[in-house]
Amino acid sequence: MNAAEEAARRRTFAVISHPDAGKSTLTEALALHARAITSAGAVHGKGDRRGVASDWMEMEKTRGISVTSAVLQFTYRDLVLNLLDTPGHADFSEDTYRVLAAVDCAVMLIDAAKGLEEQTRKLFDVCRHRGIPVITFINKWDRPGREALELLDEIEQEFRLLPTPVTWPVGIASDLRGLVDVREPGRMLRYTRTPGGAKEAIEEAVTADRAAEEEGEDWQRATDELELLGETGARHDPETFLAGESTPVFFGAALSNIGVRLLLDAVVDLAPPPGPREQSDGGHRPLEAPFSGLVFKVQANMDRSHRDRIAFVRVCSGIFERGMTVTRAASGRPFATKYAHSVFGQDRSSVDTAYPGDVVGLVNAAALRVGDTLYDGKRVEFPPMPTFAPEHFAVVRPVDIGKTKQFRRGIAQLDEEGVVQVLVSDIRGEQAPVLAAVGPMQFDVVSHRMEFEFSAPVRLESLGYSVARATDAAGGEALNRSRLVHGESMLRVKDKVVLALFPSRWHINSFEREFPDSPLEPLIAAHGTG
Ligand code: G4P
Repeated sequence: MNAAEEAARRRTFAVISHPDAGKSTLTEALALHARAITSAGAVHGKGDRRGVASDWMEMEKTRGISVTSAVLQFTYRDLVLNLLDTPGHADFSEDTYRVLAAVDCAVMLIDAAKGLEEQTRKLFDVCRHRGIPVITFINKWDRPGREALELLDEIEQEFRLLPTPVTWPVGIASDLRGLVDVREPGRMLRYTRTPGGAKEAIEEAVTADRAAEEEGEDWQRATDELELLGETGARHDPETFLAGESTPVFFGAALSNIGVRLLLDAVVDLAPPPGPREQSDGGHRPLEAPFSGLVFKVQANMDRSHRDRIAFVRVCSGIFERGMTVTRAASGRPFATKYAHSVFGQDRSSVDTAYPGDVVGLVNAAALRVGDTLYDGKRVEFPPMPTFAPEHFAVVRPVDIGKTKQFRRGIAQLDEEGVVQVLVSDIRGEQAPVLAAVGPMQFDVVSHRMEFEFSAPVRLESLGYSVARATDAAGGEALNRSRLVHGESMLRVKDKVVLALFPSRWHINSFEREFPDSPLEPLIAAHGTG
């Protein structure tokens, strides 16, 4: 098999949603359909499903949130599907952004009762920014919810994205009778609950005549609505879908497995396979070129008994073979891939070969950073990963001065993993770095890990800034000279970016009036305020 042929057999995607919309439930349902795992609950650790595969971190257990990402690979209809998990909490949107840099398609999951929510909006913005096509799944149709047409209207109005339903519900939310597959309008897929109370509903195909007779008004209404949609031209169109202008829409209930198979088929039939990847120099890396990959996530200490560091790499071109020596573009240094794994929660198994679209976990990857390009043969580099604009800032100090060494090591490690951004200013010095985060929960992760992993408990003192702008040395100097504005400039150590910090946007405006020549560059806004 060559790389291009194998790439054509792959679909690499993520599910994006607001917390509680049913992402874990849907992930499990998808994986169960593809029989990747044998029992429900092997994916996430939530509620009574606690204590399973990806629930490795103490904090995850106590808070019931998924802080880390798992990668799930399964086969379906002869294709290989890579489902990359994204953290559910809004505070970790920077992590999510990185995961989205490694997928070719996203499934946007919407709660039928709630419609578009804050986190759905942010994540959709990221998809649009990155040009990732989006398939929509409207979930929880077994519970009271909003009108289907109203939900479509909301997507169209808010996202300027044309919703093109591929399945359509028969029966209102809370009384779902079945689904019509728009491509096969002469029948209905009827769902009934199993008498024993098992979660999974029974699916049965019934003809249009029978549906009309047995479902009466519900069937009539569904066909009327479909006709209306047909007239407005809301039909799936591959071209506009891939261009990010339309989204195929599916309805269902992940909990009862309704509509999940149809969604899985859509991922296979509609989502694009991996394609040539854009390089920093503007060219595109062909799939058949020698191996290249992008590090989109670095995670330390996933397993306490191992105490190691895993770099998650998406293969972009060529064939990855365990044991090969690749080059890290940033340093030009060789990196030996002796320990390559597929990582699914806590379970690891060695990966011998991987193709474009696949994700490998490189163990003992102390030298690798998020955003790194790895390659074999001639040098190639992919564009750097943009960072979100931090909105929370705090000075961090060790509680115990005697633990300075552990403190430094820990902070450096968390910076490299991208848990927070670490800023250093000339005024504050290296002993008192400033942590910058998109959401305050990132600080909790820092405190927890500093204490338990690095044995260096820390004290955090919050700073009164909420907006950051990228600038240069001259801008930083201007900030120090400013008579009007109380702000601060920080050198971001990792990539030598100078950040100017301000208490509010009002301060930025005043500053720009005072120094019209000092360039301040906005960063990508995580909360629409950047
Ligand atoms: P998340 O990962 O997006 O945060 O959501 P998760 O899957 O944990 O689902 C959130 C809640 O919504 C869960 O209930 C889950 O059972 C429920 N849910 C998900 N999909 C459906 C669906 O199609 N229909 C209905 N009726 N409920 C659904 P919970 O009570 O919070 O947790 P649990 O104890 O059931 O795990």
